[in-house]
Amino acid sequence: MGIRKVDWDHLIEMDANFMRYHDLKAQELQKDFNGHVQYLDNPTVRDACIETYEEITMYLTRRYPKVFQLKGGFVHNVATGEQFAFPEADPAQALAHAALMVQDDLVLMVEEEDGQYHLDAGAVCLPGFWRLREKYRMSLDTLHIEAGVPHYQEKLMKSMNRFFKTMTPDKPVVRNNFFIQLDDGLHWSHRMGAQDGTDVASWAKSDSSNLGVEEIHFRSERQTLRRLPRSKALLFTIRTYFEPVSVVAQEPHIPGRLAEAIRQWDDTVSTYKGKKHWEHILLPYLDEQHRLQVENGLLEKEEGEFPF
Ligand code: HEM
Repeated sequence: MGIRKVDWDHLIEMDANFMRYHDLKAQELQKDFNGHVQYLDNPTVRDACIETYEEITMYLTRRYPKVFQLKGGFVHNVATGEQFAFPEADPAQALAHAALMVQDDLVLMVEEEDGQYHLDAGAVCLPGFWRLREKYRMSLDTLHIEAGVPHYQEKLMKSMNRFFKTMTPDKPVVRNNFFIQLDDGLHWSHRMGAQDGTDVASWAKSDSSNLGVEEIHFRSERQTLRRLPRSKALLFTIRTYFEPVSVVAQEPHIPGRLAEAIRQWDDTVSTYKGKKHWEHILLPYLDEQHRLQVENGLLEKEEGEFPF
């Protein structure tokens, strides 16, 4: 499954790009609130939304006390000047407030009567190539099978379902992935189709014509999963790191390691990640950057950690 334990202090990560993420999320929420925030109207899910807001507020006010402060019935964000009512009784508002305070998208997976975890609520503003309404209420298995996740049924399904059932609030986990994207849309990859269209985004329909290396982006999600202690829902957070490959490739070792990782994909993974749309541009570029790093002695220093 590629999951690791995560320290409490690193459950939610913030960085200097906070305002860019915040402003894009705020813009998306203003454009289409109901497209980005949804919840199943039953007592457990309502409570899970409110609990998400409470947990995130408590976490942030302790972890980043100079930025997030709780006083006078409001959470204040010193960086944006926002203040959100706290507590908040409306589940959709609670989720939206929580989402505006972090760089992550937020999803709640709740066990339904069929014994399966379903995507029963979320505040998802920066997904890149899927829409909340397409996945809303789907079970964990349907979500992954419909997205065509490579080797899901034979390698992941059983262990993921077992893991979801046995998770406890004190043992959150983290995993990372990466994708190659053909444009600079953090919230939506427009080369995969129109954001307000009805077609599900897919590589089969993506437009890679006249693609230049400067357009290609490295998209990596840092996902965490934690059981909420009161509602027992699972909070899944998706924090996307998003940079032009031309920037990422300046880091020592990265062009070589990235090209190596891509070349190791089997056919199923290559199709899933749209390799044929970009490999002829990206791989020669990475190879050239790697060659320059060798030539300039940049690879003599010890390699840092690389989670992929
Ligand atoms: C232990 C937890 C999980 C594991 C091990 C897992 C595994 C995976 C893997 C291997 C993929 C293929 C792309 C990648 O490498 O990330 C994937 C894609 C996906 N996962 Fe998960 N997943 C987990 C939890 C979840 C949850 C809770 C959701 C609920 C929203 C979810 C939604 C998706 C979606 C929508 C995609 C498809 C993205 C796309 O290609 O359009 N996953 N997952």
